[in-house]
Amino acid sequence: GPLQPLRRGAFILLEGCDRSGKSTQAAKLVRQLKARGCRVEHMRFPDRTTPIGKMIDAYLKSTQELDDHAGNDEKIFVKVKVPSSFTSRFSVRLKLVCSASGTSIVVERYAYSGIAFSAAKGLDFSWCKSSDVGLLAPDITLFLDLPICEAGKRAGFGDERYEKEDFQRNVRSQFLDMKHDDMKIIDARKTIDEIHRELVAIAIETIKKCATLPLKDLWK
Ligand code: TMP
Repeated sequence: GPLQPLRRGAFILLEGCDRSGKSTQAAKLVRQLKARGCRVEHMRFPDRTTPIGKMIDAYLKSTQELDDHAGNDEKIFVKVKVPSSFTSRFSVRLKLVCSASGTSIVVERYAYSGIAFSAAKGLDFSWCKSSDVGLLAPDITLFLDLPICEAGKRAGFGDERYEKEDFQRNVRSQFLDMKHDDMKIIDARKTIDEIHRELVAIAIETIKKCATLPLKDLWK
């Protein structure tokens, strides 16, 4: 008979502002896909368990107002961001390409977060984007969209550096400026189970659709 084309897994990305429910939904989605017999792995950026991730974690948890030394802090973070995003996000391509078995990945945050947060801090949008051109493109990006005033009421909001309502509003508009055909806006005001069912349906459809399609690169 004819040769069967190799089947690959799908790259499913969850994006959103802080406290929009990404971690809850990613964990439920991975569990449900496994229960349905899909091979799937869970990744997140930043991964706070790696050495660089630990530095980023300390940076994010320090909410003190910026003082005279802050300029240096910011520069260090920007320098940390570029190599860390390169090496760690490269692992996304490795995971998909090296698993001929067709493992899918559910990823929390990726280039869009890096760009949205950096641009919201005032860095030049094109400059922020330039270091991510050519990274593996997600097959689908699910943007969990929660009104910032709702996010602000959720437990823990304000614990970390970027969790300020005005800043998050800016981040949200940066995200929405990057909206494209492979980015779906999900209404994150719905219940956990409603959102979960929506994400499962989209994920299954994406896994089926992408199995024999070539991988794509971001902004190329
Ligand atoms: P999280 O671990 O809860 O997703 O939070 C990570 C924080 O770091 C969140 O405020 C978004 C921010 N961030 C950046 O500033 N740049 C990046 O490249 C990424 C991935 C996240």
